[in-house]
Amino acid sequence: MTQQQAFDFQPTLKGRTITLRPLCEDDLEPLYAAASDPMIWELHPDPERYQREAFEARYFSGALASGSALVAIDNATGDIVGCSRYYEWDPVAEEVAIGFTFLARSRWGGAINREMKTLMLDHAFQWARRVWFHIGKDNKRSRRGTEKVGAQFSHETQKEINGQVLDYAYYFIDRPPVPVDEVLAFSKQIAREAGALMLAELRRGNGPTAHFKHAGQELVTEADIKADTLICDAIRARYPGHQILAEESAPDLAQLSQLEGPLWVIDPIDGTVNYAHGHQHSAVSIAWLVDGVLQTGVVYNPYSDEMFSAAKGQGATLNDQPIQVAQKTELRRALFATGFPYIKNDMELLIRRVGLMLTHCADLRRMGSAALDICWVAAGRLDVYYENLSVWDFAAAQLIAIEAGARYGHFLPVPDGTSPVFHNKNILVSNATLYARAEEVLVQAE
Ligand code: IPD
Ligand code: CA
Ligand code: CA
Repeated sequence: MTQQQAFDFQPTLKGRTITLRPLCEDDLEPLYAAASDPMIWELHPDPERYQREAFEARYFSGALASGSALVAIDNATGDIVGCSRYYEWDPVAEEVAIGFTFLARSRWGGAINREMKTLMLDHAFQWARRVWFHIGKDNKRSRRGTEKVGAQFSHETQKEINGQVLDYAYYFIDRPPVPVDEVLAFSKQIAREAGALMLAELRRGNGPTAHFKHAGQELVTEADIKADTLICDAIRARYPGHQILAEESAPDLAQLSQLEGPLWVIDPIDGTVNYAHGHQHSAVSIAWLVDGVLQTGVVYNPYSDEMFSAAKGQGATLNDQPIQVAQKTELRRALFATGFPYIKNDMELLIRRVGLMLTHCADLRRMGSAALDICWVAAGRLDVYYENLSVWDFAAAQLIAIEAGARYGHFLPVPDGTSPVFHNKNILVSNATLYARAEEVLVQAE
């Protein structure tokens, strides 16, 4: 579909449990049957619409005349269960509103509202860059439902509808730059290719060629550079407009101060020291963000062929099977992991922290890949993880941990003006109960 074609206001949209189709005159009685419930309208700016006359005069006739209203039909029963409408299409700004929506009370609870909004949004995004929702200011139920489908609050203002001037809350959702599922599949594919490259490089010759970067402090191998190039070239070819932050080829953190639009954050090999020493515990880490919000993350260990992945709001998986953080509650039973920096100028504090944690927890693992450490907490193989890192070490794993039900945070305050998503110091990951206990222990070291 191209932008030149006119907005199609009355499509037929088939979903899993409902179908939306254009409203017609014959729908008056069955639609009123769904609407004749005072509870549907009790929080609405026009609460009388459950009455036949008010419904016809102040809802149905306007909906019919608009030429942009859709009724929702239950696929299983064929019943009309609700109605919604596109309005205020602005072809210059490429913005439209979705509203005048109601659902029969028997269909409340979230899933059908979400399905209806998703069908209408996906359709609208063929033309619109932004979709607005205008909700009665005090209509808490509708505001909650709109927030649940991912809309952002914009502002409150007065608006005239059917001759009444009322207070409205404005929410919006912007068209995603590319579908998240597509990005996730692409991320997995390039992580696998980079992983295969890592193993192929090991098989070539007598192990990886390594040298030191950053004034001789930090190890880097040929494979780090090659994997970085492979990943960045693939992203540039597929998504030319996207920004990239990559440890070896594009490590400029200034990109994090301007967060508009899509951004990739890449660690081509997390666990380079392991890689260079023949320890089979390293990973490729690829995160994708839009406007500073993590959308997808993959962490791939090529030795074990383990692909950890997550998409925002969709849970986390290991080789496509759902994973969950461990439910342990006693710190003395907890297995924790941490790491130590290449630059050794603050070792006293780090040793105090690890000493206290060792005293309070069951045991420590220093495994050498922060991305995998965090994913292992997500999968319940470790209970607690803390460390100071760089953004490419944790970007993808952060989303995987959160989506697996972990609490991801910082055990000391995040400085004002710094996004907690990118703050790289004092990272702590665990289930919520152990998080609080580990936090208490770690702050004692200060
Ligand atoms: C390192 C690993 C390690 C962590 C270091 C990181 P690299 O990443 O994640 O576990 O302790 O702080 O720099 O250098 O192997 O990509
Ligand atoms: Ca790393
Ligand atoms: Ca690295």
